[in-house]
Amino acid sequence: MTTPNRTNRRKFIAQTVKGGLAVTVGLSAAAPLLQSFTTNKNFVPGGFNTGFDQQPLPYAYNALENVIDAMTMEIHYSKHAAAYSKNVKDAAAAEKVNMTEPLEEVLSNISKYSAKMRNNGGGHYNHEMFWQCMRPKKENNAPTGKLLASIEKEFNSFENFKKQFAEFGKNRFGSGWAWLYINKEKVLTLGSTLNQDNPLMDIAEIKGYPLLALDVWEHAYYLKYQNKRADYIEAWWQVVNWDYVAERLHSYDI
Ligand SMILES: [Fe+2]
Repeated sequence: MTTPNRTNRRKFIAQTVKGGLAVTVGLSAAAPLLQSFTTNKNFVPGGFNTGFDQQPLPYAYNALENVIDAMTMEIHYSKHAAAYSKNVKDAAAAEKVNMTEPLEEVLSNISKYSAKMRNNGGGHYNHEMFWQCMRPKKENNAPTGKLLASIEKEFNSFENFKKQFAEFGKNRFGSGWAWLYINKEKVLTLGSTLNQDNPLMDIAEIKGYPLLALDVWEHAYYLKYQNKRADYIEAWWQVVNWDYVAERLHSYDI
């Protein structure tokens, strides 16, 4: 059976369910079907496979103004992230990786590959996810439904969750990422990784399935926020795409 890419899978979801409310219900119902498309449920639990090519940005460069400025988005997407995609493909060719298989398969065994693969494979995966984790800003932007209930269960409140998440972003020394992820015990967990590592990697400091990713490399915010990483994180909550985070949670089917 061929493995459809994420775009095709998302079209499948759109064709399967109709209407905003139905998306939440339909995704849960569709999860077993989506899982049947995956080659290994251990690291791609719900069908969010990532290919090696850079996917189109799901909005315009200026769509996140004035939280993230257009120039930052353009340089970030078309220079930094594009380079990770190019370089991971170069590494994959050199290391004889089958690029029709999900990138997640490489990431879950990244200790067997080169530093070039680790840095660029992680960089490509993390950015592909990061773009999806954002959308144009909304007033009172917050999760709803099962995702909100899961967050409140583990972190007492959404406000407390944001505070703790932000601490991981602010305290990551140098460059890296802050994460909300599902750990191996299927519990929502917060953490951060260095450089371009992520929780899918077998050598990462934290391990699990990522739900929400925040890039705290300076290239993500320096033009507008300079050294004020905390201000960038505080503003970022306005553009988090909670529907996407909820899709990833539902796909894990917990
Ligand atoms: Fe980045």
